[in-house]
Formats: sequence, structure tokens, C-alpha cells
Amino acid sequence: MFSRRTAWDRSHNRLAESVERKRHAGEPILDLTETNPTQVGLNYPGSELLPPLSDPGALVYHPDPRGLWAARQAVAGVYAERGILVDAQDLFLTASTSEAYAWLFKLLADPGDEILVPQPSYPLFDFLTRLEGVVSVGYPLVLDGTWSVDLATLEARVGSRTRLIVAVNPNNPTGTYLKRQELRGLESLCSRRGIALLGDEVFAEYPHGEDSDRAAGVLECERALTFSLGGLSKLAGLPQMKLGWIAVGGPGPEKQEAKERLELVADTYLSVNTPVQHAVGALLTAARGIRQELRRRTGRNLRHLQGATIQPSPCRLLPCEGGWTAVLQVPAIMSEEDWVLRLLEEDGVLAHPGFFFEFPVPAYLVLSLLPREEIFAEGVARILARAAGPAP
Ligand SMILES: Cc1ncc(COP(=O)(O)O)c(C=O)c1O
Repeated sequence: MFSRRTAWDRSHNRLAESVERKRHAGEPILDLTETNPTQVGLNYPGSELLPPLSDPGALVYHPDPRGLWAARQAVAGVYAERGILVDAQDLFLTASTSEAYAWLFKLLADPGDEILVPQPSYPLFDFLTRLEGVVSVGYPLVLDGTWSVDLATLEARVGSRTRLIVAVNPNNPTGTYLKRQELRGLESLCSRRGIALLGDEVFAEYPHGEDSDRAAGVLECERALTFSLGGLSKLAGLPQMKLGWIAVGGPGPEKQEAKERLELVADTYLSVNTPVQHAVGALLTAARGIRQELRRRTGRNLRHLQGATIQPSPCRLLPCEGGWTAVLQVPAIMSEEDWVLRLLEEDGVLAHPGFFFEFPVPAYLVLSLLPREEIFAEGVARILARAAGPAP
């Protein structure tokens, strides 16, 4: 009766079971997996965020498949602040970045076609691709001082059914930005092989410092069809507003065809609500303050982690260029699953294991930089104490 694409193994893994047991028993957990910005004690200015949502324009339904013009102009302003000129005509609003992925998979791929996704990276790719009947094929990021795209291996994975290369910039959870040279390599590969390039740039506004080698974004590419994804979820710390976007770039004729087809996809769903489209300009203005708070929080937690892991710590903090997560390499004295289970059950600390994100070898822990500073510091202290303790 049901589709194969939804036939997931729905049994709970041991970590999820243990979390449930602890929560049920009312035991405290220092949650270093919390990435919901609205749950970490930040100051959201209700007086700035709520009134724009009651704009009288929201009483009228006047849909535009690409999104209301004024809303798209406001989003074009986001790119302008990043130094990238985007015409509002080249923007499509979506209800989320996840929806943007789904629309682009429909636009570019038929059932069974392949999408190349980075590893380690965002764990949702498996679900997003499978739900569209397409196949995700991993390409490795290699850790050599910093994580970078292994272009030769990536090219070897391009096959006759490859339709799209996804780059997450900066990547979740490794925090690495695409460098200019990497982007040039991706552009050349995509244009030679007739493949599109998608840049998930939801964390672009969260750098931990400057780097002159950093690419501004996939829209810099002139020779390949590109799609840049963003949204209020991360840019404004407002996932509940449900507004994402796609900016289309690349050579004229392909870009035009992509936009015309994408408009039909968008018109089929018309999924973006009207109140948020009227509010987005004001929300983006209010977002500056929220973003400042998020940057302060992630910056402080990262600095704490850097200080706590200087030698002779048995744990190594991997380079973290941006985003909301940090990766800690811990001694491989037990499996990653045992690491996270022992941390939870014996130390009351919840962290994600590297294998959730397809890290190539153990043992890595992925830590959210969003928790309150005191929770983060105590959680890190307990992780480091366990790493320094006797092997099990
Ligand atoms: C890399 C990346 N892309 C997209 C998203 C989801 O964004 P949205 O809430 O707009 O669907 C996330 C959420 O964690 C993410 O980490």
C-alpha cells in the first residue's frame, strides 16, 4: 500500500531511546545538540517582529508563484549586503530551504537520477532526495588542515545520471566555507559536464573571522547554472516564520529556462504564506539584532572551546570557519555510539556522534554552539574530563 520511498527504519536508535528515558525520568540533560535558536534564551524583540505580520495586505490573496515583488526585493537586499548583485526577477520564495531543495530536485532530476552531496554534511540529504525519488551520492570532503572538496574524487563520481552538485557553504557541521579556487573547480566541472550547482548558503552570515580566500557564493559562477539557497531560519534565527528562497544564476539561456520551469513548480504549490511575505522587509531589519546575538553566542562558545582544548588536551577542535556547530575529535577509545551513550547516561551530556553526519573515521562529536554559555561550558568540561579519564 505504501511507497518504497517512505519505507524508513522508524525504530529509535539507542541514543534517542536513552534521551527519552532520561527526559521521562525528569533527569537534567546538558543538551549540546540544540540548534533551535528560539530555545536558547536569546532576546527576540516581539515589538519589532510581531506587528509586521498583521499588515492589512495579508487579508488579500494575490499570489505570485515567485513570491510578492516587494518581498523578493527585500531578499535581493540580503545578497547586496553580501556584495552580490541579485535581480529580484531571479528570486523564488519558498516555505523553507527544505522545500527549495525539493523544488530544485523536481526541476533538474527524474526518478532515479543522481544528486552529488558532500560528506560529512547535513544529515537531511538522504530524506530530501529519497522523498523526490532521486538518489544521493556522497562526495568526500577531505581534512587536511581544513576540510576541502576532493575535486578528482568528485569528478569520478559524476555519472550519466548526475544532475546536480550540492555544496553547503559554509558546511554544516564542519563550518568550512568554499574557497575561490574550489569554487572555480566546481564551476569548471559543472560547465564541462552540463550539471547544475546548488549552494546551500543558509549559514553564510555567520563567519568566525575573515578569510580573503573565501568565495562570496555560488552566484559568482558565470559558466554554470547555479542556485543559491537561503532563508529566515538561519539568517534571522526565525525558523518558525517559514520563509526560504532560491536565487538563480548562470548563463542566460539556461537560467531563463530554469526560471520558467521553476515558476511552474512554484505555481503548483503556492506554499509561501502571505503575512510573512508582507513582513519580510521588517523581519530582515529586526534580524540584524538577533544575528548579532547569535554571533555573540556562537563566538563566545567557540572561544571557550578553543581555550578548553589547547594542548595537552586529548581532544582536538577542528578548524571552524563559520556556522552554528563545532567538531571535536575525541580519542577513539570507544565507538562514537558508545561515546555519546556514555556521555549521556553517565555525564548527562547530549552530543551528536560524527556518524550522523557521515564523518569518514571515528571518533568525532558534533557540538552546537547555540546553548547558553554556562550549559555549553559545563557540557564541554564533562566531555573533556571523560576523554582524560581511563579508557573503558
Ligand atoms: C545546511 C542546512 N540547510 C538547510 C537547513 C534547513 O533550513 P530550513 O529551516 O529553511 O528548511 C538547515 C537546518 O539546520 C541546514 O543546516
